Amino acid sequence: MLEVDEILVNGTTLRVLVDPEPERADRPALWPSIGEYPIYDPFLYTTMTTDEERNQRFRAALAQLAPDKRVLDIGTGQDLIWARESLRAGARQVLAVEVIEESFRTAAANLPAYGLDDRVTLLRGESTSVEFAPHADVCVAEIIGSLAGAEGAAVVLDDAKRRHLAPSGVVVPHRAVTQAAAVGLADLFGQQPLAFSASSLKYLQDIFNWNGAPFDVRLRIENASPSALLSESGTVEELDFNGTLHTSQRHSTRLTITRAGRMDGVLTWLQLWCLPKEEPLDALRMKTNWASIYFPLFKTPVSVSPGDILDLSLATVVSDDGVRPDYQLSAALRTTDGQEFAGSVDSPHHGGPFRAHPIYQQLFPAD
Ligand SMILES: C[S@@+](CC[C@H](N)C(=O)[O-])C[C@H]1O[C@@H](n2cnc3c(N)ncnc32)[C@H](O)[C@@H]1O
Repeated sequence: MLEVDEILVNGTTLRVLVDPEPERADRPALWPSIGEYPIYDPFLYTTMTTDEERNQRFRAALAQLAPDKRVLDIGTGQDLIWARESLRAGARQVLAVEVIEESFRTAAANLPAYGLDDRVTLLRGESTSVEFAPHADVCVAEIIGSLAGAEGAAVVLDDAKRRHLAPSGVVVPHRAVTQAAAVGLADLFGQQPLAFSASSLKYLQDIFNWNGAPFDVRLRIENASPSALLSESGTVEELDFNGTLHTSQRHSTRLTITRAGRMDGVLTWLQLWCLPKEEPLDALRMKTNWASIYFPLFKTPVSVSPGDILDLSLATVVSDDGVRPDYQLSAALRTTDGQEFAGSVDSPHHGGPFRAHPIYQQLFPAD
C-alpha cells in the first residue's frame, strides 16, 4: 500500500510517496542519505551508540592506541562516546570537537555527570576552523558515511593530520572504502512498494530546509539483501587515513555480471577498518547503522546475463562547502550479445537538480 504525504519545504508543501508499513529488520526501507547533513538528533545518535558491530571496532582500536596519549575526538556528538572510551582506555587528555550547536550543548551538559570535566576539553566548531595546541597523538573521528567519504572525512582528516596531529600521530579509523555492484530496484524491493519510509520524512524535510530547496537526495536503502546483487563488487572510493589521503579521487572498476536479471543502477556500501589487521565492517552483510546507497543509472531496466561487463567509474570532488564531496558516477554496460548501454548520474552533496531521474519523479509526485 502507498500513501502520498506532504512535507513543508521553505514554506511550500511538497508531495512525497510514502510506505506506511512499519520498518522491520527483514524488510528493505527507503530513506534519504542523512549522515552528511547537520540534522543529527537524539534518535540518530542512539542508532550509532547502540551499533555494536561498529563500537567494538572503535573500542578495540582505542584500547590499543589511546593509553597515555592525547586524543582528539572530531565529531564527538551529544554522547562524547569516543572521548569517554579514550579515557577509559587510559588516555591522558581528550579534546572533543562538535560542530552542531545543540549536540555540543547536550555534550557540555553531560560532561560533569560523566565525571570527566577535568580531562575532556570540549570545543564547539568545525575541526577545520578550530586552533589548539599541543598537537594530539591520536585522532578518532567517526565521520564516516554510508558512502565512505560523504561526510567529508578526506578533507577533515587531511586537515587534522596537517594541523592537529603530531607527526607520529595515528587516525582511527584506519581505512574506509566504498564498494559497488550492479542491481535492479525490483530485486532490491521485491513485492514492496518503492516509497520513502514514513519514519524518514522528518529527515527529508530537515535536509531540504537546510538546503533551502528540494533536490535529488542520495537514496539510502536499509536492509538491502546481498542476494539482490547482479554482479561481482569492486572498490569505487578509498580513504587511507594513515596513508596518502586523496581529497578528490576517481576510481574505475570492471565488474562481471554474475546472474541474469534486470539492472537499472548500482548499490554502494561501506567497508571499514578501525585497525589495519581486522575483519572489516561490511555494511551490506552486517547489522549496523550504515546502510547501502542506490544510484539510478538507466531510465528503464536493462536485461543482463552472466558474462556481461559493467565498467563503472566514480569521481569524488569536494563540493562548494569545501569539505563534503559531490559524486559523479558513470557506467558502460556491454552485453555478451554485443549491445552497449551508457548511464551516468551526478550526486551533488547539496543543491543540483530535482526530479531529474524518473525514480525521483515517482517519489515526489507532481500536484
Ligand atoms: C556520525 S556522527 C558520530 C557521533 C559520535 N562520534 C559517534 O561516533 O557516535 C558525526 C558527528 O560529527 C560531527 N562532525 C562532523 N564533521 C565535523 C567536524 N569537521 N568538526 C566537528 N564536528 C564534526 C557531526 O555534527 C556529528 O555530530
